[in-house]
Amino acid sequence: MAILKIARMGHPVLKRHAAKVDDPTAPEIARLIGDMIETMEDADGTGLAAPQVHVLQRVVIFQIARERISGEEGEEGEEGEEGEEAVPLTLLINPAIEPLGEEKVVGLEACLSLPGLAGLVPRFKRIRYRGLAPDGTAIEREAEGFHARVVQHECDHLDGVLYPERMADLSTLTFTSEMARPETL
Ligand code: NI
Repeated sequence: MAILKIARMGHPVLKRHAAKVDDPTAPEIARLIGDMIETMEDADGTGLAAPQVHVLQRVVIFQIARERISGEEGEEGEEGEEGEEAVPLTLLINPAIEPLGEEKVVGLEACLSLPGLAGLVPRFKRIRYRGLAPDGTAIEREAEGFHARVVQHECDHLDGVLYPERMADLSTLTFTSEMARPETL
């Protein structure tokens, strides 16, 4: 396996539409996913989409650790992201998302392709998502809150969309290094 270079905002590969994977069980897909896992772990990311490592195939991976939910990041999220659960490492090929209801919640997002930045993004609160595992078996889950947010964020990468394009208020785009500063009145 190898740690891959992550494309940053502005690189054309992040704006392109990724192609459907014809054979989820192909050896090159297994190799890609292995490299993506190593790359995501090295970068301490929650999720990664194949276009971020310059591969225009519909593959996303994500993992939500319990400490990430109960820790600082969870507290920074806006209302409506309560009741979070850890999500095991999930490898999802050719994913599809269906919103469950119209309700959206605003929460903080960051992305390995926009290092050092974070912003508030509205996302569907509840979704159902489907896709294939690398062994070709079907995955279908319902998700809400941060889990639903991560899946929506990663799947956006497959259609060339980065989270600032989803933001309702660009004034909340912030360098994370500035976020710990207390407000002084
Ligand atoms: Ni991202």
